[in-house]
Amino acid sequence: MPRKFCVGGNWKCNGTVEEIKKIVNTLNAAADVPGEDVVEVVIGPPFVYIPLVKSILRPDFAIAGQNCWVKKGGAFTGEISAEMFKDLAIPWVILGHSERRALCGESNEFVADKVVYALSQGLKVMACVGETLQQRESGQTNDVVAAQTKAIADKVKDWKNVVIAYEPVWAIGTGKVATPAQAQEVHAALRSWLEKNVSSDVASKTRILYGGSVTAANCVEIGSQPDVDGFLVGGAALKPEFVDIIKAAN
Ligand code: G3P
Repeated sequence: MPRKFCVGGNWKCNGTVEEIKKIVNTLNAAADVPGEDVVEVVIGPPFVYIPLVKSILRPDFAIAGQNCWVKKGGAFTGEISAEMFKDLAIPWVILGHSERRALCGESNEFVADKVVYALSQGLKVMACVGETLQQRESGQTNDVVAAQTKAIADKVKDWKNVVIAYEPVWAIGTGKVATPAQAQEVHAALRSWLEKNVSSDVASKTRILYGGSVTAANCVEIGSQPDVDGFLVGGAALKPEFVDIIKAAN
């Protein structure tokens, strides 16, 4: 059974009402976008703009939160709970992004706990993993992403709503995109890790997205790699070329 291609757009901490309306209008007007049977498109706006995007985005594109809290909501000032996404019928959440791991000190175990709780609330999760330049240059890439994935695998029992996003930190926002071979190598290592440590079924069904300086110019070659099942796009998701990246799913 082929894995459905998934293209996520992580808008990060960007946008104004006017800019978002313009981006969404471009997405809504996109013709010849592959059907939902070919590609799953997931847009990740900043939290405050989710209701606006939900009210104007085409119904064949889904919405993701960019993070959520690790347990049921309550006295956690500033946090957004998985229940709130469920309340708003927002189906996806991005967790463990390297920027949160670095800036907010999110450990592998904390990310895993977030994944488990989000899944328990019925959300679909894009769980991010990836190595730093120093880790890559010292040959630790596969060990690092395996440890990040193991923390999740130690706690997650049902993988049907889990998508892994491999985002080499050194490629995020830098323009230094991984080569297709580099992406395929790590995706294959992740799939092999799932095969050995979880199950053949999970390994074959779990989608692994590539993220890190994806553009309309590089997406086709990377997306054609056998273990690349889509993208998690940052900067280019805020531009009209995001439509071209979605169309690369064909
Ligand atoms: O989550 C996707 C993001 O980290 C990639 O950012 O700007 O390198 O596409 P960018």
